[in-house]
Amino acid sequence: MTYVVTEDCIKCKYMDCVEVCPVDCFYEGENMLVINPSECIDCGVCEPECPAEAILPDTENGLEKWLELNTQYSAEWPNITVKKDSPDDADAHKGEENKFEKYFSADAGEGD
Ligand code: SF4
Ligand code: F3S
Repeated sequence: MTYVVTEDCIKCKYMDCVEVCPVDCFYEGENMLVINPSECIDCGVCEPECPAEAILPDTENGLEKWLELNTQYSAEWPNITVKKDSPDDADAHKGEENKFEKYFSADAGEGD
């Protein structure tokens, strides 16, 4: 198993997660992060750290799409290990629905 970053991260990108991961397996897109499933050691430390509750174990139902997305984009986006400022409007997008359809960007972030 692995943990995956899901829709609730999009446009929130709080980045509390990157600070706690013992194996530095987060990768940065323009407006969300993903986890590399083959590097994640399933420690679960990041899950309660996310203010948007965007990180879930892939053992939960219905997360196949997010497992694929985390796998694909962690191979394309740069690694991130240090927390940066979240977007100014992060709180306004917290809990919003259909963020993937509205905002998902395949563009890479800057990384560390
Ligand atoms: Fe990193 Fe642990 Fe979260 Fe996996 S579960 S991404 S190893 S903090
Ligand atoms: Fe995203 Fe939550 Fe990390 S919003 S950047 S998964 S702390």
